[in-house]
This record gives sequence, structure tokens and C-alpha cells, in this order.
Amino acid sequence: NIPKKIELIEVGPRDGLQNEPKAISTASKKELIRQLADAGFSRMETAAFVSPKWVPQMADADEISQFCNDLGITYIALTPNLKALERAIQANVPQIAVFIGASSTFNQKNINKTTDESLLETEKMFRLAKEQGIFTRAYVSMSFACPYQGNVSFEELNYVCRRFVELGADEIDIGDTNGYANPKIVYDRFARLKDLYPDTVFVGHFHDTRKMALANTLAAMQAGIDKFDSSIGGLGGCPFSPGATGNLATEEVALMLSEMGVETGLKLEEISKIVPFAKSLSSRLQPV
Ligand code: HMG
Ligand code: MG
Repeated sequence: NIPKKIELIEVGPRDGLQNEPKAISTASKKELIRQLADAGFSRMETAAFVSPKWVPQMADADEISQFCNDLGITYIALTPNLKALERAIQANVPQIAVFIGASSTFNQKNINKTTDESLLETEKMFRLAKEQGIFTRAYVSMSFACPYQGNVSFEELNYVCRRFVELGADEIDIGDTNGYANPKIVYDRFARLKDLYPDTVFVGHFHDTRKMALANTLAAMQAGIDKFDSSIGGLGGCPFSPGATGNLATEEVALMLSEMGVETGLKLEEISKIVPFAKSLSSRLQPV
């Protein structure tokens, strides 16, 4: 029942770098994106139009987007509010992502709004994005558990998912922001969501805090999910979620899928060559 082909979406240039305490040069980010494009990624998340006061590392979203346009790649940029969407439209971004917490406490800490307030804003944003022909990704953060509220119920996750489906999200990305999930809950939740919304495209976004991201990926594949976010070198973490660490590592999941005979279109050797450079950008990880 496992999909024969998987799309891996590289989120390292965004999720991987956003939480880095030391400033990373725009030139280094461009180099990372260029190398990832050469390794075969057809889609990447490369920037966030967020407040530079909140997330200084993403302050160069305009310049990075211009670079991605020139490079001719398909890329996603985070847009938490209408102002962000206006910035993304100005920058000719092809795909945007809203991100809303199934836990309202987290949403408040992350984007200074309740979950309901963010959903209301999403309605306006998706209308405008669709008028502009922009692809819409919709993240649910804290889909399993949250450092502020503890366990998140399926009903809380589904509350946000249902709204995203109604608003016509092109894909819904289920985020395990802090790496609290395990393969059983992952399988159960994805299977239930696919039952409820058979025509909706779901993506898995696993953080590897407790080293279960690979197992969670496999469990989601068993539930029929064929799109996953990963980050080169396992970089990553959310600044407003205490304890969140790196994402599912691209090189690990690409290797697992290759060994299983699952097609990704990626060049494994090229990917492994990028890992030391990616890690050198992080003050938390040492190059291998
Ligand atoms: P706020 O302070 O509530 O905004 O921030 P505001 O509307 O009150 O405006 C205050 C000032 O910010 C104003 O400027 C606005 O113009 C400006 P002033 O008049 O004072 O000069 N402003 C902006 N500037 C630039 N870009 C914008 C923008 N909006 C307002 N878009 C805001 C609200 C959403 C901006 C803020 O909370 C923010 O930037 N949060 C960032 C959150 C973030 O980036 N988190 C990490 C990404 S989420 C994640 O990692 C999880 C994920 O990976 C999935 C998973 O793992 O589950 C996606
Ligand atoms: Mg994340």
C-alpha cells in the first residue's frame, strides 16, 4: 500500500535557518538554494514574509524570492497575514503558506492571534491569492501535541483542517512542530483525515526532536501520504515553540526511500555533498 513515488519538499532554507541565532548571509542562503536545486528538488520552501523584529533571519525574503525567480524554481514562502501576502505578491512568489496552530495558545505566541482570528484572515488571504493564481499551502502546527497545552485532540486538528478544506487550500501540511508524534498516532490521524477528505492533498511535516521523524514518515506513507517536508542536514526549529529542534533530515529520508525503491527524483550523492555546507551555517550543528 506504500506509494511508489514520493515528493520531498526541501524546507531547509526556511525552517532550517529561521531559528539560527547568528545572522546567515543572503549569499550563503542563495548558495544553499542553488545546490539544492542542482540536487533535483523541484519545490522548496525558501523564505518567510514575517516581521523582521520577530524573526530577523528571514528579513531578506524579498531578495531570496527574487533569486528563486531568476533561478526558475518553484518555491513556497510563509505568509502569516495579509501584509505578508501583499509582500509576497510584490515579490512574484508562486506559492504561499499560511501556518495556524491547532493549539490556540501556540498560535498566539507565534503570530499574535487566536486560531480563529488567523482562520478569518486566511479566508481573505486565500481569496486574494487565488485571484493572483498563487498556489496555497496551509500548515496546521501542533497537530499532535503542543509545549504550551499538552496533547492536541483529533477534533482540534480537524477543526483547522476542515476550515482549510472549505477555504480551498491546494495542500494541507500536518505539522508535528515539536516532534511529539509517534508512528501510531501519525498513522491514525492521517488515515482519518484521508477518510474525511479523500480529495485533499495532505503533506507530512515532521520534526525530529525525539528521533521519530523517519518512523513517522513511514507510518504516514502506510496511510497513503506521498508528500513530505524535509530539511538538509536536519536543520530546523520554530523560534516560538520551546524545545522544537530540527526537521526530518533530507539525506536520511532520501536514503531510506531510495533503499526501499521509492522514486523521489533526487540525486543522493549530490544531497550528501550539501550536508556539510548546510551544517556549517548552523551554530548548533557541526559539519560531518
Ligand atoms: P504583530 O506584531 O502582531 O503585527 O506581528 P501587527 O499587525 O500588530 O503589526 C506590528 C508591526 O509589524 C507593524 O509595523 C506592521 O506593519 C508590521 P509598525 O507599524 O510597528 O512599523 N508587520 C509586518 N512586517 C513585516 N511583515 C509582515 C508584517 N505584519 C505586520 N508580515 C506577525 C504579527 C505575524 C507579523 C508576527 O507575529 C510574526 O512575524 N511572527 C512570525 C512567526 C514565525 O515566523 N514563526 C516561525 C514560522 S512557523 C513554524 O516554524 C512552524 C512550521 O514549520 C510548521 C510546523 O513545524 O508545525 C511552519
Ligand atoms: Mg516546522
